[in-house]
Amino acid sequence: MKLLATAAILGAMTASGAFAAELSIAANSTGKNVDFLRARFVEFEAKTGHKVNLVTMPSSSSEQFGQYRLWLAAGNTDVDIYQTDIVWAPQLADQFIDLTEATKDVAANFFPSIIASQTVNERLVSLPMYTDAPAMYYRKDLLEKYGKQPPKTWDELEATAKEIQEKERAAGQADFWGFVFQANAYEGLTCNALEWIKSSGGGQIIEPDGTISINNEKAAAAIDRATGWIGTITPEGVLAYKEEESRGVWQTGNAAFMRNWPYAYALGNGDDSAIKGKFGVLPLPVAAAGDQPSSALGGWNLAVSKYSDEQEAAIELVKFLASSEVQKKRAVELSNLPTLSALYDDPDIAASQPFMASWKPIFQNAVPRPSAVAKVKYNEVSSKFWSAVHNTLSGNGSAADNLELLEVELTGLKGDAW
Ligand code: GLC
Repeated sequence: MKLLATAAILGAMTASGAFAAELSIAANSTGKNVDFLRARFVEFEAKTGHKVNLVTMPSSSSEQFGQYRLWLAAGNTDVDIYQTDIVWAPQLADQFIDLTEATKDVAANFFPSIIASQTVNERLVSLPMYTDAPAMYYRKDLLEKYGKQPPKTWDELEATAKEIQEKERAAGQADFWGFVFQANAYEGLTCNALEWIKSSGGGQIIEPDGTISINNEKAAAAIDRATGWIGTITPEGVLAYKEEESRGVWQTGNAAFMRNWPYAYALGNGDDSAIKGKFGVLPLPVAAAGDQPSSALGGWNLAVSKYSDEQEAAIELVKFLASSEVQKKRAVELSNLPTLSALYDDPDIAASQPFMASWKPIFQNAVPRPSAVAKVKYNEVSSKFWSAVHNTLSGNGSAADNLELLEVELTGLKGDAW
């Protein structure tokens, strides 16, 4: 963004003598992210003399991506910094500046695998702000009430969800459901369905060597299993749910189980939550004993636009928002998982978010979506995948038929190589 008016500039020289800049950052609105960022901007402005404007984006990762792509293709100079999803780095890399040099004093403090996910052709295109790996949230009080154990397999989850739903409804909770998740036709469904499939031995859509593996019996069985949940233990409305809609049902006390990301932990324990102190988190279930629980790897980063005319100040803000100080606050207040390994030993974080220490191995073993292998074609791969799954869940064709078609589409998209 342009420099502030001259009078303001004179009054706002930074300690280093550089003029203050006005910055704009685009960020998503899931949970309390926006409130949290605004509070950090006040701190940053006081420290640096810069001014920060927030461009609020939809909470759907897919909608946000569509908007970013348009802005960046048009060389938009109004947005200096973009909050970016972990899977976008290969697709947007050319539009962002290389942060390697500017972050060489801090880069070694981050988990190397997360830095690697944001490194494209040896350019660090965004700095990791938090990482993500979902949990199976469960109502401890209700499991106790009905003498049930936390489920380890999808079949156990289904049976327990069904029993609790029936009993709660019989006790007068007419709107109570067994299990909520995200099945809208968007990136979140790619994550959910990848988890059902991978935890059932059905691969990860496209394998790291580029093989399109999705058309297999285990994958089809995993999607068929999920189709059976709709309208039985899960409301039909789930076909339009993203993270926040499922959290709405869960947090008003109307579900026994929810698949969601760690941000829902702090919110669920908020003073306005009907389930405060009544729930726990588990790793996601597996299909059968011996299978690996499979969380999709998520996470958010900060990138500086190559079209920004305030790149130096933008880098300062990125480093501040990804700093240990701010990531610690983010963990304590929003229960987002830090990308700095040292914070997993922080006693304040452990006290405020007791689940977090045990989540480190879960995100470290999480399954990446095939964004590194599909490169600039990832978004198309993902949208074809989520459409095939959404069609199946909606009763439009069998999983086997839809996956066969998907394989043909992905093969065409791949061409000679990804
Ligand atoms: C979470 C994850 C992100 C993912 C999104 C899908 O925000 O951090 O990586 O794409 O959910 O809805």
